[in-house]
Amino acid sequence: MAKKELKLRAVVAPTETVIVSAYDPDGKADACTLAFYMVSSHVPPCVTIAINATQKRKTLKDILETKAFVLGFPNVRQVKEADYLGVESGYRADKIANIGFTVSPAQTVHAPIINELPLSLECEVVHTVTVGSHMQVTGEVKRILAEESILDENGRIILEKLQPIIYDEEERLYLGIGGKAGDAFRPGIEFKKALEAKDRE
Ligand SMILES: Cc1cc2nc3c(=O)[nH]c(=O)nc-3n(C[C@H](O)[C@H](O)[C@H](O)COP(=O)(O)O)c2cc1C
Repeated sequence: MAKKELKLRAVVAPTETVIVSAYDPDGKADACTLAFYMVSSHVPPCVTIAINATQKRKTLKDILETKAFVLGFPNVRQVKEADYLGVESGYRADKIANIGFTVSPAQTVHAPIINELPLSLECEVVHTVTVGSHMQVTGEVKRILAEESILDENGRIILEKLQPIIYDEEERLYLGIGGKAGDAFRPGIEFKKALEAKDRE
């Protein structure tokens, strides 16, 4: 099939929309929306976010001062609130109050949990590095708080219950998750075994 060379840019993949919250030096909570988020370690559990360091984000300043943040996962019914937290700055507005959300102090770090978000990770900053325009901040997850409605009976987070917001940078729109495309670590293993069996023949 014909292929076309595209303009150079970093983002071609959809990402999960997250909300990072932190306290400022006066103890006021602020939050902003991020699409640059990834799981970066299983042991210890760590997540990494990337925040534009050239554009004076209040949340980044607060995170660097407190060495802590909470990563919250909104659901598709919270698109308006998530989008607002990503287009207004805590330097100009009390964003969390404006959307009618409330906060509680995290138990393990000095950062605010947004009560209305169904899933929150309390994180302690363990590493920062600046690459190009963005500072990557890695947080070790110290506590996870989830609404029971998004869990199965074994305490696993079920994405179809969470209904996360997927951000598409290419078309600048939000999507829900689609249906299941397959099992992970199964079709690949079956294929690998079939190839190995063929080799033994
Ligand atoms: C969908 C969406 C995704 C965003 N992702 C990021 C991101 O990954 N990194 C970043 O630095 N800013 C991102 N932003 C922009 C910030 O959320 C925005 O600049 C915000 O106003 C910063 O607020 P603050 O000054 O209170 O920290 C995103 C905004 C939206 C709407």
